[in-house]
Amino acid sequence: MNFSSNEDKTIKDFGEQWLKYSENKGYYGSLELFSDILYPFLKTEDMRGCKIAEIGSGTGRIVNMLLEAGAQHVIAAEPSDAFEVLCRNIRQPEKVTCLKITGDKLPAYDDLDYIFSIGVLHHIPDPIPVVEAAYRALRPGGHFFVWVYGKEGNELYLRLIHPLRGITKHLPHFILALLVWAIYIPTAIYIKLCHRFPLPLRGYMLSVLEKMSPEKRRLIIYDQLNPEYAKYYTRFEAEKLLSDGKFENVRIHHRHGYSWTVIGTKPLI
Ligand SMILES: C[S@@+](CC[C@H](N)C(=O)[O-])C[C@H]1O[C@@H](n2cnc3c(N)ncnc32)[C@H](O)[C@@H]1O
Repeated sequence: MNFSSNEDKTIKDFGEQWLKYSENKGYYGSLELFSDILYPFLKTEDMRGCKIAEIGSGTGRIVNMLLEAGAQHVIAAEPSDAFEVLCRNIRQPEKVTCLKITGDKLPAYDDLDYIFSIGVLHHIPDPIPVVEAAYRALRPGGHFFVWVYGKEGNELYLRLIHPLRGITKHLPHFILALLVWAIYIPTAIYIKLCHRFPLPLRGYMLSVLEKMSPEKRRLIIYDQLNPEYAKYYTRFEAEKLLSDGKFENVRIHHRHGYSWTVIGTKPLI
């Protein structure tokens, strides 16, 4: 695989995506969703007074969640053309440093309490340099928190999405947006059916997707179909990302049965 051209194309795809879908209203940008993402390892209160970085900030929804949770300072790293949207969306700019860089270029601050990378490492063909940069930027005892797509729990979905993505990632925005509308309608019916039947991805449908506004549901469908590169991690691969990266006390959680939340700590010495 040509890592660098895949990475560049993925970053370009996200730049275009976020210029079209630039705001973070409702549950999609809420502290309630942030608590759900952090569970069971952290609470929003843990962010209070902390120095934090987010790798791959997109339109800044996680940065704003961190600020709302009381972070003292946030470093927001975003390499794509979404950088301008990110800077515009930040609610307390005096508490944020925005950097237009890829994650591997995160400066070696060595004093951050937390680094978050939510929905990002699975879009990077070679994430190891990013994990290494996160390690260097944390203080000893600081934590790296990662959320990635999971393979387990998504088997049926992956059988549908893989061949579809082979086409959709090449489509121009307006055709993809039309296709998203066509998929949105059966998805809404599927969510309703999940209330009655134990269907695949039920946990995700009822705990996350149903709480999103129709517009955000369509964004989430678009986000699945648009980027050049997306990897669905097995439990083993997700855990290995951090344990191979010298982190200790690595813990993993199967979030809503479809994705992996992984947290590791930089050793004290
Ligand atoms: C699915 S979005 C997640 C955005 C944000 N974390 C959120 O949850 O709303 C993935 C983001 O990762 C960024 N990204 C892609 N490759 C990256 C890299 N090598 N380093 C840092 N960010 C990257 C993309 O530009 C995109 O904005």
